[in-house]
Amino acid sequence: MVYRTPIIAGNWKMNNTAREGVALVNALKPLVADAKCEVVVCVPAIDIPAVAEAIAGSNIKLGAQNVHYAPKGAYTGEISASMLLEYGVEYVIIGHSERRQYFGETDETVNKRTIAALRAGLKPIVCVGETLEEREAGKTEEVLSRQVREGLAGIEDLTNIVIAYEPVWAIGTGRTASCEQANSTIRFIRRTCAGIFGKDQANALRIQYGGSMNADNYRLLMSMPDIDGGLIGGASLKAADFATIVKYDKGGMGGMKLRKELL
Ligand code: 13P
Repeated sequence: MVYRTPIIAGNWKMNNTAREGVALVNALKPLVADAKCEVVVCVPAIDIPAVAEAIAGSNIKLGAQNVHYAPKGAYTGEISASMLLEYGVEYVIIGHSERRQYFGETDETVNKRTIAALRAGLKPIVCVGETLEEREAGKTEEVLSRQVREGLAGIEDLTNIVIAYEPVWAIGTGRTASCEQANSTIRFIRRTCAGIFGKDQANALRIQYGGSMNADNYRLLMSMPDIDGGLIGGASLKAADFATIVKYDKGGMGGMKLRKELL
């Protein structure tokens, strides 16, 4: 029997000072207290101490937006896994398309960061996704297959990994992948993982959709069988909108929803 617990994560990106972040999670806490999924906020590094304190004792988990692959050393501006762990950070986004686009992140650095995060005990949310140009050129599967293979090279156990499928053309554009398009692409990613890691691991792997998911369109996306959650940008900055998405009860079972979905 294979189960996947839905996971909704907010990616605040470079929004919210620590003070603003604390106000946001304080507003969020009562709204999501009865969530049927895992709830994560991935906050700017400097917000981590204050947000960690504000969410203590709640069901909101803490995530970072990046982590360096070295345990320590001369890497000006970077943050190590142990620095994150000291504040109770559990998840870390790795290889977001904005990191790939603006900060030279490659499949190789994604791979190094993912391995380092796993070794340290963090749970990586590994982002993959094609650009509009790649989709229009019919290269979506080729790109995703490469990002998955190279990003997860050398890893054997997917237990603590989440993949976020974020088509670059849908991020911050208001243009969402249709639910069928998102589901079939995520299914392709799952099949790719089955080819590398075996069916059991692929069936247990949680894969989120990200890209203009909001309080108006989440229902259709979340109702798709292969979509195990969302990585939410803009809509995660508003407590009421994020809470609306979080409260979606995927199976209508009224408890932490565990789902069986076999390839
Ligand atoms: P938006 O929800 O703002 O499109 O951002 C998606 C995203 O990049 C989450 O990581």
